[in-house]
Amino acid sequence: MNKKVLVTGGTGYIGSHTVVQLLAANYSVVILDNLCNSSREVLNRIELLSGKKVDFVEGDIRNRDVLQTTFQLHGIDSVIHFAGLKAVGESQTQPLMYYDNNVNGSVILLEEMAKANIKTIVFSSSATVYGDPGYSQYKEDTPVAPINVYGRTKLMVEDIIKDLKNSDASWRAALLRYFNPVGAHASGQMGENPSGIPNNLMPFVAQVAVGKREKLSVYGNDYNTPDGTGKRDYIHVEDLAAGHLAALKVLENQSELLTLNLGTGKPNSVLEMIHAFEKASGKKINYEIVARRSGDLAEYYADPTLAEKVLGWQAQLGIDRMCEDTWRWQMNNPNGY
Ligand code: NAD
Ligand code: UFG
Repeated sequence: MNKKVLVTGGTGYIGSHTVVQLLAANYSVVILDNLCNSSREVLNRIELLSGKKVDFVEGDIRNRDVLQTTFQLHGIDSVIHFAGLKAVGESQTQPLMYYDNNVNGSVILLEEMAKANIKTIVFSSSATVYGDPGYSQYKEDTPVAPINVYGRTKLMVEDIIKDLKNSDASWRAALLRYFNPVGAHASGQMGENPSGIPNNLMPFVAQVAVGKREKLSVYGNDYNTPDGTGKRDYIHVEDLAAGHLAALKVLENQSELLTLNLGTGKPNSVLEMIHAFEKASGKKINYEIVARRSGDLAEYYADPTLAEKVLGWQAQLGIDRMCEDTWRWQMNNPNGY
């Protein structure tokens, strides 16, 4: 029998890429998503790319009835939990909405999992949990001290899952701290679909290239980095998705709680990303240097060696592929899904 995975947030950006890989690896998949930041069209793309049917439940992780019915109907073995809100700026102005959705939602999900005796979870955490430790390469034991509400919701859920594991050793959990996910499916059929003005660098660059936005604002060129612009660890969403499958496999065979960075370990600056995108697209990216964005650090990136060792996984795709795939997605879908 194929193992059955519930993917919360499975029609979202990272979730959808992970679902396609799960189906290719012969997992059965049920997606639970309330579509607050994604589109039903994603389901058609998933079926097109995988050649398989995927069960979809439109619902909220905070709805116990929906969870109970889904667990009863589908015989779920494990959960990959992507569902959550992720806009840092919005989290500062709407903290209660973030604590309710991300923290309370996760507590309800975990409670219902426990009741249904489903005790394997892979959780989407973030490099934001680290805050500003004063150096730029983060290991998993780098002190955590998030500087925004969004980051605090991620750390709270990490702690809740750790406490749960301490109380009941039969839980199996992986807390995956993503660095900067970018890129799209190589087919150009699936990618990131931000609503409104993108907050993040690469979706904005792609919209400038395709002519949807006039120019990119580069937030500061006076950082202590070689070209003065901020450096980040961009990781291809396909590599990230593969990291989830690797984590699930490891959890099937051992019960240690895993806390792992998922990154490449190789940071790139804003200007390097702009130039890589120009090369991939053949388009000029208009940009202007503006003031720093509040809360941004000069540079941070993963030490990915623990994930490599524990998962037998390593990011494979570099920034050229990240930009080529983003461009293909953007060109094929100038208005998103
Ligand atoms: P996304 O917004 O594309 O996907 C999240 C999905 O969850 C969406 O489809 C949304 O409709 C759904 N959702 C939100 N709240 C829900 C709820 N209460 N019930 C049911 N569904 C709900 O985001 P993404 O980029 O795919 O991120 C996935 C996860 O990874 C999130 O938890 C995010 O915080 C985390 N993460 C993302 C990044 C990033 O830069 N993209 C970095 C680190 C961590
Ligand atoms: N940047 C610009 N112009 C823009 C957008 C971004 O110059 O229009 C710069 C930023 O200053 C930064 C870099 O591009 O130097 C990357 O910025 P992003 O907004 O793409 O990503 P962040 O590193 O700020 O944050 C991302 C996610 C967060 C997550 C964090 C975790 O957006 O959700 O990584 O590491 F919490």
